[in-house]
Amino acid sequence: MSALLYIECSPRRADSFSSQAAAIYLDALPKGVTVEHLDLFAANLPEFDAVAAAAKYKVMGGKPLNPAEESAWSKVIALVDGFKAADHYLIAAPMWNFGVPYKLKQYIDLITHPGLTFIPRPDGMEGLAGGDAVVIYSRGGNYGPKDGQPDPYDHQSPYLQAWLELVGVSPVVEVAVEGTMRPPAGAQNRLDGVRVRLKELAAGIDGG
Ligand SMILES: Cc1cc2nc3c(=O)[nH]c(=O)nc-3n(C[C@H](O)[C@H](O)[C@H](O)COP(=O)(O)O)c2cc1C
Repeated sequence: MSALLYIECSPRRADSFSSQAAAIYLDALPKGVTVEHLDLFAANLPEFDAVAAAAKYKVMGGKPLNPAEESAWSKVIALVDGFKAADHYLIAAPMWNFGVPYKLKQYIDLITHPGLTFIPRPDGMEGLAGGDAVVIYSRGGNYGPKDGQPDPYDHQSPYLQAWLELVGVSPVVEVAVEGTMRPPAGAQNRLDGVRVRLKELAAGIDGG
């Protein structure tokens, strides 16, 4: 058995291109893969507020936490444990204002801490999560390379690549559903371009 964590980042559910692309992938997974679904807009994520931030700095400094900080930090640990339990990750993320939706950023801020998801080493960062990832992007426009150069407005892919590297998730395969707000309208037109690739990637997961 292997475990896959599906992180759904669009609130649009059935209307969402990224969620529909994720469903194609999930439907093609081998039988032995168990799927944990984290719907970020339904998850009621805790705030990473002043108390949580104080707890983080105290933990980093080896100082004791007060009860409110203990409570905030226990929620962080639970989310980190859930994240690290996976062998594989599927992240389905819309582009919002050139980057990722704020709920994904909130989740990343909640689970990314030294000693929990990475360790600073003299020669760089050691990621503690492990596993590999497929990341699906959906974008109203087109953000592929221009004249052989990365699109400077794409803050989605470079950011998620950097974060996944930090926490030790590798390799990362990206699949983009682009031009979703441009004609021709209709999900099928957009999804047909990625359907075969998504099924191939899912079939390549080891079901144990
Ligand atoms: C708040 C918000 C911001 C958006 N910002 C961008 C953007 O910067 N660039 C872009 O191409 N599309 C943008 N869009 C369009 C979405 O990327 C597009 O509709 C995509 O298909 C959404 O993913 P989903 O279908 O999985 O929900 C934005 C949509 C919303 C709701």
